[in-house]
Amino acid sequence: MSNLLTTLHKLALQLTITPEQIGIIANKFQQAMQNGLAGQPSSLKMLPSYLNKPSRKETGTFLALDFGGTNVRVLLTELLGEGQFTVHARAGKPLKNDIEHYNHISKQSTANHLFDFIAQQIATLIKPDRIYPLGHTFSFPIHQIGLNAGALIHWTKEIETTGVVGKDITALLKAALVKQGLEHVVPQAIINDTVGTLLTSAYGNPFTDIGSICGTGHNTAYLEPCAPWTKEPMIINIESGNFDQLPFTAYDTLLDKQSEKPGEQRLEKMVSGHYIGELVRIIACSLFEDGLLASSGPTREILKTPYLLHGAPISLLLEDDSEESNAIACFLNDNLGILNSTIEDRQALKNIATLVTTRSARLVAATYIGILHHIDPNLTQNHTIAIDGSLYEKTPGYADTIQMTLDEGLATTSEVTTTLTKDGSGIGAAIATAIAVL
Ligand code: BGC
Repeated sequence: MSNLLTTLHKLALQLTITPEQIGIIANKFQQAMQNGLAGQPSSLKMLPSYLNKPSRKETGTFLALDFGGTNVRVLLTELLGEGQFTVHARAGKPLKNDIEHYNHISKQSTANHLFDFIAQQIATLIKPDRIYPLGHTFSFPIHQIGLNAGALIHWTKEIETTGVVGKDITALLKAALVKQGLEHVVPQAIINDTVGTLLTSAYGNPFTDIGSICGTGHNTAYLEPCAPWTKEPMIINIESGNFDQLPFTAYDTLLDKQSEKPGEQRLEKMVSGHYIGELVRIIACSLFEDGLLASSGPTREILKTPYLLHGAPISLLLEDDSEESNAIACFLNDNLGILNSTIEDRQALKNIATLVTTRSARLVAATYIGILHHIDPNLTQNHTIAIDGSLYEKTPGYADTIQMTLDEGLATTSEVTTTLTKDGSGIGAAIATAIAVL
């Protein structure tokens, strides 16, 4: 076997999550959930949402504000009941734009800059002569003290805007709305995007009791049958991206060390879109360093650039089944500056991307198994897991791997399925507002 093949074989052993490991991770996750709920030390925050599932009868027109870390989006949404809705108008902008010279998520930006920008986007969509109840999806860990109030615990996804951590997000939004003369926009609810995804799917499907995001970030929410704060059913935002009882490789440790917040969001750093490209780069880089892949001069230097593959379509590596791997050759050319890749280089890159994304899907599925065991120990009910995010929607094989891992790890005859819930964070904010005002 060539050195490259031997190394790829070793890599496969390190990155493959075996069925036995799935069981172990699921158990540890379930235990961490229980510890978090009981107020004991846990990597899982288990944050209350103060929301139950929708009745599916909610109707009316609401503004939905969706702040996920990449864009701010505003949707004027009409809920029609039983899972039906219409989006009448949309507005939105990226949170940073190099051409327009702004960046609201860097260290240099403040809470005022950010929330003024958000209020400006809302202003583009509304008329002066009516009241707009607004729901806000804020896709970061917030400590909620009610449906409409919550303070940011810390930023994730490498966002660094100052003056927001510890502050009540609804209060910051209200102040910015007043500054813009938008007092007729009335915030009524603040939710996490996982909660929004669960609400959106459950609005049409009574079996939905888990909502999850597999995109730039990763996290899951679920319907807790008996929440510790109220002893009633309540949707809980697990903040599962921070789970840390996992089989880390040296590559994960390196990525974590070089990240904005070492030690935090360890699961997210192994599974989410923000980090997967970086993992592929780190692994490829170590193969180049060892002279196992095309190692001509400039290549090595370019490959050392952190987050070089951020936003790059890693799925493109997985999709290319052509004999010469032509699309991968273009990818290497455009993204890594490798002009003369061999077929072996291309296949090795595809191999690495496959290992990293398969591991991501299997780890995510293991956490779902932990949640299912917690809410339905004998698995007597059907369950739908609503998922939104580009990784789940667009990565070839990702959704199938999650489903296969669930089937493999769950001994049950009841149906456990996953479903794509697009726009869950936007529509979910409208549903939460309906629940708040009706
Ligand atoms: C955040 C979560 C969010 C997830 C998906 C994570 O980085 O901590 O609150 O749900 O990203 O957007």
